[in-house]
Amino acid sequence: MQYARQCMLIIAGAFLLWYILGFLADEPTPGHHAFRQRLVAVGDLHGDIKNTRAVLKMVKLIDEDDKWVGGTDILVQTGDNIDRGTYALDIYRLFASLRDQVSDAGGQLHTVLGNHEFMNAIGDWRYVSKADIAHWGGQKKRIHDMSLDGWLGQEWMANYTTTARVFLAPFKGAPSLSFTHGSLRPSYPDLLPYPARINELGGSLLERALTPPMAPPHPPNPYRGLPEGTTQAEAGVYDSGGPLWWRGLADVPNEETVCEWAKELKEKLGVRRIIGGHTPDFERIVDRCGGDVIIIDTGISYAYGGVLSALEIIYTLSPVNAAGELSTGVDALRKGERYIEREEVYAVYQSRKRKIAVVEQEITI
Ligand SMILES: *[C@@H]1O[C@H](CO)[C@@H](O)[C@H](O)[C@H]1NC(C)=O
Repeated sequence: MQYARQCMLIIAGAFLLWYILGFLADEPTPGHHAFRQRLVAVGDLHGDIKNTRAVLKMVKLIDEDDKWVGGTDILVQTGDNIDRGTYALDIYRLFASLRDQVSDAGGQLHTVLGNHEFMNAIGDWRYVSKADIAHWGGQKKRIHDMSLDGWLGQEWMANYTTTARVFLAPFKGAPSLSFTHGSLRPSYPDLLPYPARINELGGSLLERALTPPMAPPHPPNPYRGLPEGTTQAEAGVYDSGGPLWWRGLADVPNEETVCEWAKELKEKLGVRRIIGGHTPDFERIVDRCGGDVIIIDTGISYAYGGVLSALEIIYTLSPVNAAGELSTGVDALRKGERYIEREEVYAVYQSRKRKIAVVEQEITI
């Protein structure tokens, strides 16, 4: 009988082990990979500092004191921190205060400009609330802060881009993702070289707009349009078909058309996914074409009342040859070695998480 009991125990133990390993396989944990990178992207925040904090806390990137606790994680924000709500100033300050902490921890912070940042830059204040101006300390201070003489104008010029290509790992040929506020249009004439050309044009347009004296705010002043001397290519950035304003990947209903565009863009830009904000769906992060296109604007601001959300990507490399499993981190990656690459893409909300895509393949780095 002793023998039968032992057998039962062994079977039960084996079953338990199999059960636990099953869980581990489903939910990969840091220690099991040679390399692991987490990326979080957040869409339009429109002057809501409270929900900005709530989202960043929800995805465990900041703590109660607004300190970075994301370690080596990557945070991408796709623009439109300003207008509609009152507290844009606090959002820009929060991102500015995080920058050094993020880089000290070995993480990355990518901040992208939206059409509303450019609107404010060119004096189009139609979506600026009285409360925002008051909170900022008056119109004069607001204009000064945003100009090339002010801290925010300088921060925009130095640390914000019009589009961002973000790599998921630090090896040559590693997959990258494209982040832009609006939709990239396959026929937009200045896609290439990506992302340098769009950023060069966005940067020079922004510099023109922020060079004092800045355009007096409309209303009540008449709308000035783009700054004097703006080139045709710079104007294209702000055009309705340009990267700040176009909505095609989000709002063209024909799935086949959008997937053709996505395929063309992915090939042209050399990226795995095209991610943007700008066109809100108040209930969910919208993915199209199997996650080739992801629209992350859920109207997070109280000005809209949409759900709090973030896009989360977990990228891991596990050596095919198990010997490599002992060391982890960038240094553990060996050129010429074979790895199982796994990319998990999730839409994260306050009380749930939805899987958008999982890519797993064997690669040689
Ligand atoms: C840009 O960010 C860096 C930190 O990464 C910071 O030291 C610098 O002051 C910022 N530049 C401006 C002009 O704000």
